[in-house]
Amino acid sequence: MIHTKILGTGSYVPKRVVTNKDMEKIVETSDAWIQSRTGIKSRHMTVDENTSDLSLKAAERAIKDANIDRKDIDLVIVATITGDYPFPAVAQLIQRKLGLNEITAFDVNAACSGFIYALNIADKMIRSGAYKKALIVGADILSKYTDFTDRNTCVLFADAAGAMIIGESDTEKIKKVVTYAKGDLEGFLSMDGYPLKDNFKTPEQVRPFVKMQGSDVFKFATTVFPKVIKELLDLTQTSIDDLSLIVAHQANSRIIDKAARTLAFPTEKMYLNIDRYGNTSAASVPLAIDEAIKSGALKKGDIFATAAFGAGLTWGGALIEL
Ligand code: UT7
Repeated sequence: MIHTKILGTGSYVPKRVVTNKDMEKIVETSDAWIQSRTGIKSRHMTVDENTSDLSLKAAERAIKDANIDRKDIDLVIVATITGDYPFPAVAQLIQRKLGLNEITAFDVNAACSGFIYALNIADKMIRSGAYKKALIVGADILSKYTDFTDRNTCVLFADAAGAMIIGESDTEKIKKVVTYAKGDLEGFLSMDGYPLKDNFKTPEQVRPFVKMQGSDVFKFATTVFPKVIKELLDLTQTSIDDLSLIVAHQANSRIIDKAARTLAFPTEKMYLNIDRYGNTSAASVPLAIDEAIKSGALKKGDIFATAAFGAGLTWGGALIEL
């Protein structure tokens, strides 16, 4: 039987730091409100790098960390809702920029849960025996689609990329990955598309922005997040006491605190970096996992769980031994 494991991780954030004080200058908000309601102190926003540029840098770091020959990568999946273009996909752009072979490369759209979806797909494709080493990336530039006059959303979202190389393993290290969607809740968090074009009229130029019913998404997140962790523990017959860390999607520190209370899990074992990055959508989970590993918060042999939730509405999680 083919099993899978993490071979390496990497991440990248754009250089420009935008603080809560900077946000105070453009919208009616305050550092105190943002910190107390979300846990965010600052975030990174791109100036001139696109989603494929962030993805490329994170991918290069993951390849170096995995210490593999990049020619051995036979699958690239990028989770993003903010690709450089509608097509080609970011996965194909970075396949070229990385100089990879002619391999399978595509994007997935599951918003903030996107990286877990990409991990689920890559894990199953490797377990099938058809692929050996996958590069998976979560990358988003939500600042491209943020309405900077809407204080309900503009203080939350930011830009980043995180990457992971996974491959075949003799023992089962990626123990379980699950993903779900509930399309009937799509109105809670969405972005308008461009209108259908009537060829006989010049279409009105519209700029689509992210729209969110924050408190509805909050309730959804605080329900599915602990639920998926319990499911992963049941499916893998793991005790919650065996988890070194829960490294979840960084949407709001209050969501993470509430999940810890529901699970009766120590808050200090819930990984937090939202203070420095804000909500980076599909990048959030791989960025947090990479940081947890590089900082020594996660060590070889540790078992950790991850979970994410977002537009779709979607959610998912994974239970992994490093
Ligand atoms: O990553 C995808 C998943 N996303 C999430 O999981 C996000 C989930 N939702 C949340 O994290 C929270 O709902 C928010 C952080 C978005 C909002 O926090 P909240 O405590 O739910 O606030 P609220 O939307 O209920 O608004 C409370 C008040 C309102 O004022 P009134 O109507 O009570 O006078 C808002 O207008 O806070 C006001 N408000 C703000 N005030 C200052 C909303 N945004 C701001 C702001 N600065 N930036």
